[in-house]
Amino acid sequence: MSYKRITLSQFLMDGQHRRGGSGRFTSLLTDIRTTCKMISHEVNRGAMAGNLGLAGTENVQGEDQKKLDVLANEIFLHMTAQSGNYAAMASEELEDVHIVHGASGRYLLLFDPLDGSSNIDINIAVGSIFSILHLPDGVDCSDRSVFLQPGVKQVAAGYAIYGSSTMLVLTTGEGVNGFTLDQNIGVFVLTHPNMRISEDASEFAINASRSRFWEPPVKRYIDEALAGTEGPRAKDFNMRWVAAMVAEVHRILCRGGVFMYPVDVRNAKQGGKLRLMYEANPMAFIVEQAGGMAITGRDRIMDLQPQGLHQRVGVVLGSKNEVERIQRYHREYDASAGKN
Ligand code: F6P
Repeated sequence: MSYKRITLSQFLMDGQHRRGGSGRFTSLLTDIRTTCKMISHEVNRGAMAGNLGLAGTENVQGEDQKKLDVLANEIFLHMTAQSGNYAAMASEELEDVHIVHGASGRYLLLFDPLDGSSNIDINIAVGSIFSILHLPDGVDCSDRSVFLQPGVKQVAAGYAIYGSSTMLVLTTGEGVNGFTLDQNIGVFVLTHPNMRISEDASEFAINASRSRFWEPPVKRYIDEALAGTEGPRAKDFNMRWVAAMVAEVHRILCRGGVFMYPVDVRNAKQGGKLRLMYEANPMAFIVEQAGGMAITGRDRIMDLQPQGLHQRVGVVLGSKNEVERIQRYHREYDASAGKN
């Protein structure tokens, strides 16, 4: 085995030296690194540590919390508050923001501590998603609206995937890099430098059990894909559904494809299923940095002006040419229905 490996710490330090930075940014991501290692450890111990099953509580969205949802949330809050890098945090599991009193840092952290938690008890991949924003000068974070910044304002974003191996995938706006956790020495190693999403693909991920609720442009795209070589696309498609957005995005970064959780007639009242601030925006940042596209179906996700911390949104992301096609289908449908 080669020992000429680049660890996440070295990678962050290199970036810091290149940018002539103060080290604050390196420190922000170091907090996340430690957090994800600890959550990975708890996910791995699973049933042995009594970590599976329901916690007996509900989160702010009225969803049953798993024990690991609660534990991962506590680890995130504790590990990222200690350094004082973050002035405040927002989590999928907390109704209101968590202010870190006495923090010297001017950054805000948003996170989904454990994404895809229906997979926990069945030993299938889950993950953590995070997004980092600046706390603008002269504003104090007791003003909650400071979190409501569009995705284009993110300074960094990423996810950890706890799968057959644990990986941390990051962007700071200079491409996307993936690090694999060497469990023996407890160090993340750069294994996937400069990840890129292929422009074309023939694999899609959507929860097809909702097909009767889909809008016509979504139905058109999927019907055409299902028609395969005999259909208008003249090629066969493959389908996947892991039920953890982290795993779907990771697959798309590795071999292309499209992931869709669109607004449909059943979830339209809530605005969709996935959360804008700590699911859609960070994933959109990563996907765009890897050369892909991320839209609601109609609009670019990162341009949306957030209206609320737990706002939901439709998500279509992945290989550029496929996502562009889906956007075109929405535009053609809207034009024919006289919507614009
Ligand atoms: O809540 C987020 C999430 O778990 C995503 O990670 C995943 O893509 C989706 O929900 C799964 O939804 P469903 O339960 O409809 O399969």
